[in-house]
Amino acid sequence: MPANKKLLVLPGDGIGPEVVREVRRVIDWLDRRRQVTFDVEEGLVGGAAIDALGHPCPDRTMEQALAADAILFGSVGGPKWDSLPFEGRPELGILRLRKELGLFANLRPALVWSPLAQASSLKADLVDGLDLMIVRESTGGIYFGEPRGIETLPDGTRRGFDTETYSEEEIARVARIGFELAAKRSGRLTSVDKANVMQSGRFWREIVTRTAAEFPNVELSHMYADNCAMQLASRPKQFDVILASNLFGDLLSDLAAAVTGSLGMLPSATLGAPDSSGRRHALYEPIHGSAPDIAGKGIANPCAQILSFAMLLRWSFGMEEDARLIENAVEKVLSGGLRTADIMVPGAARVGTSIMGEAVVRELDKMAA
Ligand code: IPM
Ligand code: MG
Repeated sequence: MPANKKLLVLPGDGIGPEVVREVRRVIDWLDRRRQVTFDVEEGLVGGAAIDALGHPCPDRTMEQALAADAILFGSVGGPKWDSLPFEGRPELGILRLRKELGLFANLRPALVWSPLAQASSLKADLVDGLDLMIVRESTGGIYFGEPRGIETLPDGTRRGFDTETYSEEEIARVARIGFELAAKRSGRLTSVDKANVMQSGRFWREIVTRTAAEFPNVELSHMYADNCAMQLASRPKQFDVILASNLFGDLLSDLAAAVTGSLGMLPSATLGAPDSSGRRHALYEPIHGSAPDIAGKGIANPCAQILSFAMLLRWSFGMEEDARLIENAVEKVLSGGLRTADIMVPGAARVGTSIMGEAVVRELDKMAA
C-alpha cells in the first residue's frame, strides 16, 4: 500500500463546509476501494479562523499547509466579516496561502458538461463542448505590488494607489506552465495583456514571446484583455489555453465561468514550483465563492468541490485514473437527470447537496463493481 498522502482540508466559510463534507464521502470511498489512504487533517481559514483565532490565516494553519502534500480549500468570506478593517478580512486567508506557499500558477478550467449546455446564457451551440483553461498568475501583479495604500497629500486631498509589477522570472515561470498545458492540449496559447496602455503589459508580452521559443510546438497569440473579455462572451470556443496576469485572470476566469452557465461545476488548482525533490505545494478550490445567500440551506452544488478533489488527485498525486473515475461519476449523475438548484432545468430532478454527493459515490460504486 502506498504511503499515506497528507491532505489538509480547509472548509472555510459559507457553503464551504457543506460542499467539503461531500468530498469527505469521496475520500472515504477511495480509502475503502483503492490501494491508497489519505491522512486528512482539518484547519481553519477565513471568517471561521477570524472567529476562532482572530486571524484569517493563523500561523497554525500555515504550519499545517506547509506540512501537507496537498490542500483542499472550500471558500472564504461573508457579510458577517464585511465590516472588518482591510487587514483583517477573510479574503486575506487565501492570499496568504498563495503568497507564502509560492502558489503562482492558478489553473482555472472552464468546461461545459454536455448535459448542461442549456444552462449557459449563450446559445447552447456556442458553448456545447467548450473546454478552455485559464492560467492565471497568482502571487504577483497588482495583488501584491508595492507601493500600495491610501494617503493624504500635503494639500489635504487623498489618493488610493496600487502597483502592477512583474519581474521577468515571474512572467516566464507562469508562461511555461501555460505553454506546457497548451502542448498537451490543442497546442494553442493566447496571452492576455494591455500592452497598448501599460508598461508592465508591454513587458509581459515581451517575456511571453521570448519564452515561446522554448515551445516550438505551441502557437502563441496575444490579445488585449478587453478584447479577450468580449471574445469570451461571444465566441468562447476559439480559445484553448489563456494566459493572464493575476488581475486580468481574476476577471476573465469569472467571465469564462459565467459563460459555462454552471459556476457550481468548476474546480481550480493553484500550483507552486517543484523543489529539488520534486515536491510542490498545491491548493485546490472551487471557482464559486462562499455563496452566503444559500449557506446552511443544504442546496449548494458540491460538484465543483468534488471536481477540485479530482484535480488534486491528478496534479498532486499523479492519480489520473482515479481523477477520471470521479469526473465520470459526476457526468453520470448529471446525465441521469439529478440537478442542484443552480443547474436546474425543466424535467430534471432537483436535489440538495448531500443527495448529490451520495449519488456521485453511488456511481463510483457502480463503476468500480
Ligand atoms: C478568486 C477570488 C479571490 C481573488 C479573492 C477571494 C481574494 O476572487 O480566487 O478569484 O481575487 O483572487
Ligand atoms: Mg475572483
